[in-house]
Amino acid sequence: MNRPDPERATTPPDGRPLSEQPRWRRDFPIHLPEDEYVSRRDLVRFAVLVSGAFAVGQVWILAQNAVRRMAGRPPIREIAGAGALPPGKSLVFRYPGPQDICFLARQSDGRLVAFSQVCTHLSCAVIPDVPTGKILCPCHDGVFEMRTGRPLAGPPQRPLPRVQIEQRGGRIYATGMEVSTV
Ligand code: FES
Repeated sequence: MNRPDPERATTPPDGRPLSEQPRWRRDFPIHLPEDEYVSRRDLVRFAVLVSGAFAVGQVWILAQNAVRRMAGRPPIREIAGAGALPPGKSLVFRYPGPQDICFLARQSDGRLVAFSQVCTHLSCAVIPDVPTGKILCPCHDGVFEMRTGRPLAGPPQRPLPRVQIEQRGGRIYATGMEVSTV
């Protein structure tokens, strides 16, 4: 281990030279010029805080899901990190059950939308075309509006079921489904 330069160490509070200081102070003297570097203690503190926040978040989700299950409501489920989806991109996820395929898209204006990926005509998988603001169904040329999920063209008559989403602590969560008939 490199020994710190005693000349550069800040004077200890009791004024005694570094060689007479306790071992812990000799190993971790404070150097004012290097004070802006993250110390080991700060790093540990940061890691504990982040882990604690994550654990609290997970406990909160478990508790919420237990309440929701009793009330017959869909669970809260994490979809992705907020930074994982730049504008114009989309990703597929499953909600509320493992067989229910949905997609999450970040529109060009940065707003997030999420819908079921099952076409309301004959259940083909729809494809989000984020740059045009439309959702396309390749089976019978159905077209839905990305912002609202309502049908714009082709045979579909009903909007796509919308997934309610929330952003919390830098993560995106699915929190429910909205099924609309108009
Ligand atoms: S299944 Fe989508 S338009 Fe027919």
